[in-house]
Amino acid sequence: MSVSGQKAGATNGVKGSALDVFRSRYLPRFAPYLAECERRMAGITGQPGGSLESSSTMTLAAGGKRLRPLLVFLSACRGHEPAEDHYAAAVAVEMVHMATLVHDDVLDGAELRRGKPTVVSRYGPNVSIAAGDYLFSSAFDVLSATGSTRSVSLLASTSLDLSRGELMQMAAAGDFSLTRKDYEERCRLKTSSLFATSCRLGAVLSGCEEQAVEAMGRFGGCIGLAFQISDDILDFSGDGDLTGKLSGVDLRDGTVTLPLILAMEEDGELASLLTGDLDEAQIGEIRRRVRLSGGLELARRQADGYVQQAARALSLVDGVIDTGPLELIAAATVDRRT
Ligand code: IPE
Ligand code: IPE
Ligand code: MG
Ligand code: MG
Repeated sequence: MSVSGQKAGATNGVKGSALDVFRSRYLPRFAPYLAECERRMAGITGQPGGSLESSSTMTLAAGGKRLRPLLVFLSACRGHEPAEDHYAAAVAVEMVHMATLVHDDVLDGAELRRGKPTVVSRYGPNVSIAAGDYLFSSAFDVLSATGSTRSVSLLASTSLDLSRGELMQMAAAGDFSLTRKDYEERCRLKTSSLFATSCRLGAVLSGCEEQAVEAMGRFGGCIGLAFQISDDILDFSGDGDLTGKLSGVDLRDGTVTLPLILAMEEDGELASLLTGDLDEAQIGEIRRRVRLSGGLELARRQADGYVQQAARALSLVDGVIDTGPLELIAAATVDRRT
């Protein structure tokens, strides 16, 4: 799944994945908004000079799906053209996202991100921490210019969620007794909160009524969960050339995710393989058994369930917000290759 980074794969009325349909039907309308967002972000990352500038710029230049800014634009009230506030929110959510990725790669010891070396692998943890902080602070600088204290407060509370989620994951490293509930709570904090806030901001800043803002928050929260589950499936089954990340990072870090939890419920012997530091042969065997036990399909089914919940939330804003493109993006979160 890459929203704007690839050519459209289908034309209007022609069959294709949800993302293909989105690209052919709606991207021409939204691409200029994303391009403006990109121009503004480049202005910010190009400012500080030195290693802070090169590390922030390399993060931006590596690309990414730009899903969160897209959600800001898609969540606006019907007929609303993006104005200054919407651009600020779109830039802010992507800057927060990039900040968390730069920090996340330090915590996960990840070498590859968006198909390029991570900031931590090129510049080390100190520059990564400073670059992440710069991106975080810039996000709030931009958003505060809207004068909307509600927006700033939404993003601040999401930033707290993100750090709690990451810390929760770190604290649980190597804990193979993690429950589905713990996993879901972590995903709500580290991923779904920013999806929900992106949607809420789009609705709030275009003047939607409170009921619609809340429904969009629920929609974003549900697709965020589906998106993270898909990401965790891709860590087992993904093609690194497409995801731009090395697969198997979660197991190597001792991060327990839904496919593994569900596989353990199916395969009673799997738990006995999960002990201490795992070498590459053990990791290979665990990955094989997760696939064989059906853990990936079961996880996919849960992700599909969240997309259905998202659709129910969306039905509450029918007529207020243009739900067509949002339905396609929701479907694309469970049909990811990237
Ligand atoms: C990666 O998010 C982090 C997760 C929530 C799994 P994305 O997959 O949206 O990352 P980019 O922005 O496209 O690189
Ligand atoms: C998501 O977690 C990262 C954040 C939300 C900060 P992951 O660790 O699963 O994401 P990737 O796989 O590194 O993109
Ligand atoms: Mg990671
Ligand atoms: Mg992580």
